[in-house]
Amino acid sequence: MKSSAVSEPFSAFMARALFDPERGYYTRNIRTVGRSGDFSTSATLSPSLGHAIAAWLKAESRLQPQVRHIIEVGAGDGSLMQAVRKSLGWWARLRFTFHIVETSPVLRQEQQKKLGAKVTWHTDLESALAAAQGHAHIYHNELLDAFPATLVQWDAAAQRWLEVWVPEQLHPHALEPAHYSALRHTAFADRQRCELHSSIRDWLHQWTPHWHSGTMLTIDYGDEFPRLYHRRPHGTLRAYLLHQRLTGADLYANPGRQDITADINFTDYAAWLLELGLAQDSQQTLAEFLHLHAAPAWLTDPEGAGTAFKCFVHRRQACASSNHTT
Ligand SMILES: C[S@@+](CC[C@H](N)C(=O)[O-])C[C@H]1O[C@@H](n2cnc3c(N)ncnc32)[C@H](O)[C@@H]1O
Repeated sequence: MKSSAVSEPFSAFMARALFDPERGYYTRNIRTVGRSGDFSTSATLSPSLGHAIAAWLKAESRLQPQVRHIIEVGAGDGSLMQAVRKSLGWWARLRFTFHIVETSPVLRQEQQKKLGAKVTWHTDLESALAAAQGHAHIYHNELLDAFPATLVQWDAAAQRWLEVWVPEQLHPHALEPAHYSALRHTAFADRQRCELHSSIRDWLHQWTPHWHSGTMLTIDYGDEFPRLYHRRPHGTLRAYLLHQRLTGADLYANPGRQDITADINFTDYAAWLLELGLAQDSQQTLAEFLHLHAAPAWLTDPEGAGTAFKCFVHRRQACASSNHTT
């Protein structure tokens, strides 16, 4: 895919580069996730995360025995679902119906090779929840960081945020500061960049009204705001091409050929879920989550990669109302 000759907001560029139906990275060009793919994730490096999620699901099903469906969103090469199913054991496997929500046709094929008829596939969470009559436990690992981000830059002299367009130009933005902690922050140095995930907020508004009971486990890299941007004047955006990390102008170099990703602002994420009636049950580092759910010691090393990732659990109580304003 060529960079667009016309100017467009960075978020539109990122959406095209990753999800264009004909030439997007996830839609067409990704080979797979994992050691033999373009990038690895904690799910493809070891089955430990699958063991821990299975233990978490067993604990959740004791609390909410009426929930019989499990939905993974954005399943990569299918390794995580495979490890979760294996660790649940035959009895628990029989209790549950398994679903994957996957937008990439390439990765769906990889998943189908691994999982065959044991799982039902959907292209969006609303359809998966309809199949589960709204009662499901949901989990996702390194999903949110692939959502297109709006890129903004602080203009200290004018005390205002401007939106970055591609090719690089600055324009006034149209986002509502009430929804984004960065837009309410005025203490940055000139030219600080931040990523705003209105795409995640919109996504939550689409499917949460269809969710009636269950819990959701979110695992991703990111931090609370403003700590997320401590010593990161250029923000957190980067691209990955053949396991190499690219930043700056290289972000725009190979649209459709490389992954583009940004950290998650968990202050905003928690606030968006709360406004939808979903209070946070727990928040841990991945190392703590693995430790709590008895994963092998090498992955629970607090100095290791497990602390860059955070795990959040949100609960939808069976009696909760599913009517929300957007
Ligand atoms: C970075 S990969 C992570 C894969 C896997 N969870 C893992 O940990 O190895 C992101 C995954 O999310 C999928 N994806 C991206 N946007 C999605 C969306 N809106 N709904 C469902 N899947 C999505 C991608 O196709 C891919 O499978």
